[in-house]
Amino acid sequence: MGYKIAIVGATGNVGREMLDILDERGFPADEVVALASRRSQGTEVSFGDRTLKVQALENYDFSDTDICLMSAGGTISKEWSPKIGAKGCVVIDNSSAWRYDADVPLIVPEVNADAAAGFTKKNIIANPNCSTAQLVVALKPLHEAAGIKRVVVSTYQSVSGGGKEAMEELFNQTRAVFVNDPIEPKKFTKRIAFNVIPHIDVFMEDGYTKEEWKVLAETKKMLDPKIKVTCTAVRVPVFIGHSESVNIEFEREITADQARDILREAPGCLVIDKHEDGGYITPYESAGEDATYISRIREDATVENGLNLWVVSDNLRKGAALNAVQIAEVLVNRGLIKPKKQAA
Ligand SMILES: NC(=O)c1ccc[n+]([C@@H]2O[C@H](COP(=O)([O-])OP(=O)(O)OC[C@H]3O[C@@H](n4cnc5c(N)ncnc54)[C@H](OP(=O)(O)O)[C@@H]3O)[C@@H](O)[C@H]2O)c1
Repeated sequence: MGYKIAIVGATGNVGREMLDILDERGFPADEVVALASRRSQGTEVSFGDRTLKVQALENYDFSDTDICLMSAGGTISKEWSPKIGAKGCVVIDNSSAWRYDADVPLIVPEVNADAAAGFTKKNIIANPNCSTAQLVVALKPLHEAAGIKRVVVSTYQSVSGGGKEAMEELFNQTRAVFVNDPIEPKKFTKRIAFNVIPHIDVFMEDGYTKEEWKVLAETKKMLDPKIKVTCTAVRVPVFIGHSESVNIEFEREITADQARDILREAPGCLVIDKHEDGGYITPYESAGEDATYISRIREDATVENGLNLWVVSDNLRKGAALNAVQIAEVLVNRGLIKPKKQAA
């Protein structure tokens, strides 16, 4: 007997990716239900070689559903996750609504899968921000090897991180440049076509953006509260795939060769690091892939025990949908939840 899974936000970028990944990985689901807003009720989404009719979230009863993969933004999650959890359905949420709640585990399975067992307090598990997910996959094995003291990360984030409207805006603005139409930013604060924008999410009092704050708060929660992290988050005109330039200072000595060997063996990591033209990964090549790619591994001679890395991953997969499905697999494989149908 398999599990009953509901996907909230099934018509969105992340939701559609979740459906693909559940199918690709052969997740033990007896039934998958696609949910979205009332606007999408009755439309269809693909799930493997089947199509699912989308139902409205507000009309759906979660009583016999085991796992809800929630991907419809923070406002919807704040309202719905506690209600769904109270029905005995475990919510794996993609928004930032619950990530910093002490009673909600924040999980990247390659980093802190054991903490998933703490979901029972609220029946909610949080998925990290897309930039943090790929960062901690690369940092974890290096932290174990040489103890990370400080990380300086600059992100180059694709527009799909802002949802399907953001992708349309890049497409439409790019087209407008070629046909000489006026360009009106809507979702972004400035033109994104042929430009970069050093601003993601809202500004905070100290001048950092919320996106930058998320990377440090989430890295500390999942990896080690003692690690110092500072971040500059930048939106770039790329459709899919986030890139990060990462500078790391360690407690103990670690060479670039040692780091390369460690990362080659690390779960979720793929090292592509040849010192030649094209011997590194770009976001375009990461789209549709599961790995966190690491290239350009170099020693930083300006600090004691320093390294530089280039880290790239598909933000819709490891940054969101894949990570959420991997969390669901942890719940199932470790016997942390049983299908309700079987229990009844
Ligand atoms: N994109 C990323 O890289 C990424 C990474 C990590 C986390 N996330 C998070 O994942 C979530 C979704 O992101 P996305 O990129 O998939 O956004 P998106 O493409 O804009 O999709 C949003 C989804 O939410 C649904 N929705 C909106 N209002 C709703 C309502 N009132 N009731 C039920 N469903 C509703 C939409 O349904 P309709 O089609 O019916 O409007 C759509 O399915 C966000 O919380 C985002 O922060 C995204």
